[in-house]
Amino acid sequence: EKGGYDYFMLKEIAEQPRAVADTLLGRIDPSGSLTLDEVRISPSELREIDKVVIVACGTAFHAGLIAKYAIEHWTRIPCEVELASEFRYRDPILDGRSLVIAISQSGETMDTLMALRHAREQGSKVLAICNTNGSTIPRESDAVLYTHAGPEVAVASTKAFLTQLVACYLVALYLGQVRGTKWGDEIQAVIKDLSRISEEVERVLETMEPVRALARTLASKNTVLFLGRHVGYPVALEGALKLKELAYMHAEGFAAGELKHGPIALIEEDLPVVVVVPSPRGRSVLHDKIVSNIQEIRARGARTIVIAEEGDETVVPYADHLIRIPATPTLLQPLVATVPLQVFACELATARGNEVDQPRNLAKSVTVE
Ligand code: M6R
Repeated sequence: EKGGYDYFMLKEIAEQPRAVADTLLGRIDPSGSLTLDEVRISPSELREIDKVVIVACGTAFHAGLIAKYAIEHWTRIPCEVELASEFRYRDPILDGRSLVIAISQSGETMDTLMALRHAREQGSKVLAICNTNGSTIPRESDAVLYTHAGPEVAVASTKAFLTQLVACYLVALYLGQVRGTKWGDEIQAVIKDLSRISEEVERVLETMEPVRALARTLASKNTVLFLGRHVGYPVALEGALKLKELAYMHAEGFAAGELKHGPIALIEEDLPVVVVVPSPRGRSVLHDKIVSNIQEIRARGARTIVIAEEGDETVVPYADHLIRIPATPTLLQPLVATVPLQVFACELATARGNEVDQPRNLAKSVTVE
C-alpha cells in the first residue's frame, strides 16, 4: 500500500508532481485560457463579486493565505482569509456579492463546514476547494473545484496542500480572466508556467538528500524558527506547522519584517532559522530586505538554513546551509519552496523516533468544533 516507502507521508510527498499535474489536467485549454466548467457560478455572477473571503483550518488555511496574494494581485478584488474557527463568531460582513471559498482536504472539517453554512445564510456564494469527492463541504457548497491529489493517508498534509495551491491559483487566474484585468498578459504567462510546474516540483524532489542529512543533525534541537516575506511568509508558517506536528518541536513561523518587532530577541548561538528567500527577479525589494534579515540573524549567532532560487548568489555568504529551488514566478514559488520543508520535518520526525503517519494527539480529519 505504501508503494515501497516506509511511510505514507514519504509516498505522498513523492506523489506531488503527479498530484499537481492531475489537478491542472483539463483545466487549461490549448489556447492557454482556463476552463473551470465545474465552477457553477456564472461569469456574470463572478463579475459582480466585490469581495472574496477564504475560510479554512491548519494547512488549508496556509493555502488560503497564499491565495490572497494571488487573488488580490490578479483580480484587484479585496480578499480576506480567516481561520474557520474564528470566522462566524465575529459576525463577518457578508452579502450576495461576497464569494466565500472554503478549502478542505477532507471536506469534513467541522469548523470549515460551520463557516460555510454561516456564509450561505448571509446569501453569499460558496465555492469549495476539496480533495474528497462527495464529502459534506462540497455537498453543501454552491460549487466545487476538486483537487486531484488522490487519497491522503498521513495526518500531515503534503500533496493536498500543493494541489490546494494549484486550485487557488486557478481560481485567481480564472477570476482575472473572467473580469478582464489589466494583468491579461501576465495571467497568460503564469498559466504557461503553471502548466510546467509539476516538472519543477519533480526536480526539487530529486535534490532532497542534503536536506535529509541536515535534518538528522538537528534532531536534538528544541526550537527551529522559520522566516519568510510575501508568499514566503505562509510557507514559513506551513514549515513550522509540519515540524510541530511531526517532530514535536517548538517551531514558529514569522514574517521576516516583524523580526525587529520582537522575535529577533529569540535568536541565540546556533539556533536553526529557516529562511525562504523570494526570487531576486520580480519583486527585488523583498529579496534585498530578506538578505539583510539573514545577515542580522546570522550576526547574532543563528544557524541559517536558506531556501533560495537557483542562480541567486547574493545569499551564499550568509547561508550556513543552502537549499536550492528552481526559479518560478514569485507568486508560484510556494509550490517548490514548501517541498524541502515537508522533507525536513519528515526526516526530523524519523530521527527523533516519532510516528510519522500518525503523530500523537492528532486526527486526520477534525469533525468536532
Ligand atoms: O481536511 P482539512 O483540509 O479541512 O483539514 C484541515 C486541517 O485539519 C489540516 O490541514 C491539518 O492542519 C493537517 N494535519 C496539517 O498537516
